Amino acid sequence: MPEPPSIDFSRLLTVGEVARRSGVAVSTIHFYEAKGLISSTRNEGNQRRFSSVVLRYIAVIKVAQRTGIPLEEIKQALSHFPVGSKLTAAQWRTLSAGWRTSLDERIQILTRLRDELDSCIGCGCLSLNQCPLRNPQDALGADGPGPRILERA
Ligand code: FES
Repeated sequence: MPEPPSIDFSRLLTVGEVARRSGVAVSTIHFYEAKGLISSTRNEGNQRRFSSVVLRYIAVIKVAQRTGIPLEEIKQALSHFPVGSKLTAAQWRTLSAGWRTSLDERIQILTRLRDELDSCIGCGCLSLNQCPLRNPQDALGADGPGPRILERA
């Protein structure tokens, strides 16, 4: 097992240290900063320095993006707090509560995709043996576009 990178978390971090610990490219860190999702300060040499709390922001942004939450939605949620501030557990809870509905919807869609992709999804293709039973002559197409069974409420 490789040695963990030694970073002195008692001081402000360089962008390289943030990149190494977060697993995010330096260019992505700059992008997040330009988007106002994270913030840094400048040292005497005008180099960016980051508080270690930025690692938590980046982790949350990365995971949220991976679940399909658009960056603008993430930014909107974070905008309720000063950029880069050290949030309390209650504040992080407030933030996650704001995402609960959309996350629940995503979970439901992903679960259906996982469980029903080998079945007729009501998309109008009529390509599976069971389509005539679940979607005879694409009757579900009358209800609207898209995979009617997969996207049912
Ligand atoms: S899978 Fe497309 S209509 Fe059945």
